[in-house]
Amino acid sequence: MTVRELRSKFLRFFEAKGHLHFPSASLVPYDVTGRLDESLLFTGAGMVQFKPYFRGIAQPDHKRLMTCQKCVRTGDIDIVGDDTHLTFFEMLGNFSFGDYFKTEAIAYSWEFLTSTEWLGLDPQRLSFTIYEEDDEAFAEWCKWFATVGIDGSTRVFRLDDETNYWPAGAFTKGPPGPCGPNSEMFYWVADSPPPGPKYTRADWIADDAAVNWVEIWNDVFIQYEWQGELKNPSRPAEGFQKTGMPELPFRSIDTGMGLDRTALVLGGYRSVYDTDVFLPIFEAIDALGNPGPETDPEEVARARRVIADHIRTAVFCISDGVLPANNGRGYVLRRLIRRAVLKGVRALQIKEPFFHLVYEGVVASMGDYYTELTERRDVIVETLRNEEALFRRTLENGLRLLNEQLQAAEGAFSGASAFHLYDTFGFPLEVTQEICRESGIEIDVDEYDLALGEAQARSRSGQEREAVYSAVGGVTELAVDGAPDTTDFTGYADTQHAARIVKVRMPEGSTTTYVALDNTPFYAESGGQVGDTGDLCFADASIRVLNTTKNQGTFWHEVASPDGHAADSLLGQVIVAKVDAARRARILRNHTATHLLQAALRRVLGTHVTQAGSHVSPSSLRFDFTHGRSLAREELEAVERMVVDQILANSDVTIYVDIPIAEAKARGAMALFGEKYGNSVRMVEVADFSRELCGGTHVRTTGQIGLFKIVSESSAASGVRRIEAITGEAAYEFVLEQSARISEAAALLKAMPRELVHAVERQTEALRDERKKRERAEAAMAKGSTTANSTTTQVGTNILVTQRFEDLDSKIVSEWVDDLVARDPHAIALAALVVDGKITFTCKVGGAATAHAGNLVREVAKIAGGGGGGRPEFATAGGKDVSKVDEALAAAPSFL
Ligand code: SER
Repeated sequence: MTVRELRSKFLRFFEAKGHLHFPSASLVPYDVTGRLDESLLFTGAGMVQFKPYFRGIAQPDHKRLMTCQKCVRTGDIDIVGDDTHLTFFEMLGNFSFGDYFKTEAIAYSWEFLTSTEWLGLDPQRLSFTIYEEDDEAFAEWCKWFATVGIDGSTRVFRLDDETNYWPAGAFTKGPPGPCGPNSEMFYWVADSPPPGPKYTRADWIADDAAVNWVEIWNDVFIQYEWQGELKNPSRPAEGFQKTGMPELPFRSIDTGMGLDRTALVLGGYRSVYDTDVFLPIFEAIDALGNPGPETDPEEVARARRVIADHIRTAVFCISDGVLPANNGRGYVLRRLIRRAVLKGVRALQIKEPFFHLVYEGVVASMGDYYTELTERRDVIVETLRNEEALFRRTLENGLRLLNEQLQAAEGAFSGASAFHLYDTFGFPLEVTQEICRESGIEIDVDEYDLALGEAQARSRSGQEREAVYSAVGGVTELAVDGAPDTTDFTGYADTQHAARIVKVRMPEGSTTTYVALDNTPFYAESGGQVGDTGDLCFADASIRVLNTTKNQGTFWHEVASPDGHAADSLLGQVIVAKVDAARRARILRNHTATHLLQAALRRVLGTHVTQAGSHVSPSSLRFDFTHGRSLAREELEAVERMVVDQILANSDVTIYVDIPIAEAKARGAMALFGEKYGNSVRMVEVADFSRELCGGTHVRTTGQIGLFKIVSESSAASGVRRIEAITGEAAYEFVLEQSARISEAAALLKAMPRELVHAVERQTEALRDERKKRERAEAAMAKGSTTANSTTTQVGTNILVTQRFEDLDSKIVSEWVDDLVARDPHAIALAALVVDGKITFTCKVGGAATAHAGNLVREVAKIAGGGGGGRPEFATAGGKDVSKVDEALAAAPSFL
């Protein structure tokens, strides 16, 4: 059975049991309400997105759902490459939210596993573990075993909460959240026949350790809300202290079947890498070339597996909006890519960037089900290629250093060196550790952490504010009776609205107060657009709104300590909320212009361009996007011109409120990469040029933007470029200032502004001519003085020419001696150059002359209180006594 068939079989089975197919959540763990689960880096199980449903704080449309969830777990990254561990895998799951419970869940699992209509697995080869106190689960499984004549007590075993609670160990150590006992399902994969009727719990534990059993499925009986507090809030890693474990409002089911592992079992394989899903990926790897005879086949096999695993994780992460970075999810991604690249370089001897080529294998095997892989092809390929190129730039030097240090290391590798490898060469610690381990050498991780901590402390100064803010202790929050949970936003239509103050928050020790209204025209900072400022007006006074932010649907207006009104007396007051309209208008221009810019970039540079960040403020806009190279001037001009054309066309900006996401996507709307959207969305359209999902405020027609000007293009991060631009008044001011500067410069050159370039050229040329003239004059002076001031003496067949020079460039003196001996091979040229009271004697001897330049200058220099010497044909020497220069030159013939 192929992986595809298994996936669809599971979904068909549970559909027949009344389940609706719910889409896989993003790998970035947004839950069904659109909130990011801060406790997790990645979605690692089907249940993650459903936490609000289990808790009863959000209601699903249907009480029975099923999913095929993409999952990333990197906890076992070191053993990836063995038979069963992967960092990316698919989890099939059926869920009940307060509908069926344990009896049905176990019955469904048994039927799907054993019925010949479904997987038809041999019950003799199945075993189950349950939580030690779960008598019900024990009875249910035994009931099913009895139907096939097997004594359940030889197949169902009780274990503790480390293995048989979800999350693992949840009964004792948390984390906070929905949890419950579980039951894991195992299949006998050993070559020997499955165990007989005397099988015990101790036998099972030994066989599990020997990997004779492979876990394929897990039923979780969600029942409780584990409650607890961090033992030490400043060190979250120390874990939680349990404070209670009340029952949830209803009982639920969460199950997770490992698609790859189940396919392994069905195919009779020993390794998940033998399943068909990996075939096209290995083909793509093998197409890169043959590693050559001197490579170790075991190392090659492992490297192929690691690359095959990591490419899936990398590709799925990028398609969900994660980009390589130095922290958080981005760092996990970076580590995976670099680890795979190193395997390719070291074990497979691949010389050129290759990882992005393996992407095609993933598309061939999974692209039909996960359409995001091809929809985001360009950005995936570009990101992989850039990250590998970045790493390869330092790879060779890093590896050389690593090897040198490995040879020097005796048993231990310094943590500071490992940090240096990370900091300078981009080697993730785990990668260095892995390479060291191959030589049986350990890294001093404490020392590494210390070096990392110091580096972080050095770069943290900019983030201090945040730390201080979160250190502020308690918050007092007051609310009127019946205060709404969320604020109505009226600001798409107006910038002014009557409203009532319904909540007031006062962070302890802060002079800022936060005010919430029942409805507000103030836009709250989101989607890159800054929050509005303005005033809350009472009959006789007003208070200033410095910023607007939102938290879970409530818009908070940040006000300076209210003047004449005690903070708590604000509560319940009716006011008029007035947004700074001129500032808002500037924001609108920049926001719509950002959309036009993105559309233009995709047309000029290609569809790999994807938003990686944006900041829309009244003064300017900043747009970060995925692209591996800086933009050429022509490209920037083309982009700018395209945006300006759209402005000149004065197209309508149409807002579609609440359209189904499928429709928006079908119409080609750009979604913010990795963002969680609801079923209906807001789409902003500019003619046929740009469509984006966006909650921001925009101009009504593009003509209102006025003018658009790109002011800079730079690198924001590896593979990410940044464009800053201005619109409207700011762009006009910019143009004014530029032309003023041009006029000023032209006036200085006594030219008309339009002749500035020509005038500068003329000026530069004149300067160049001037300089040449001067040089020529100097040279002429030097040569001219040769004939006038030099002394020529015949000594045997030699012709000695001496001359004194003052304040000249030594180059001219060199030319003079060269010139002389070039003209007459019998010549011996001896020059004395006096500059700032220092004397330099230079002597050159012609090819036919019989003298030693070194000896001659030495004797001559002595007279002037100096010394030196050199080769027979050319030498220089210094002197100190300027009054003796002529005497020294005059003595030269006698030395010959
Ligand atoms: N949450 C459980 C697991 O991941 C079952 O889906 O194993």
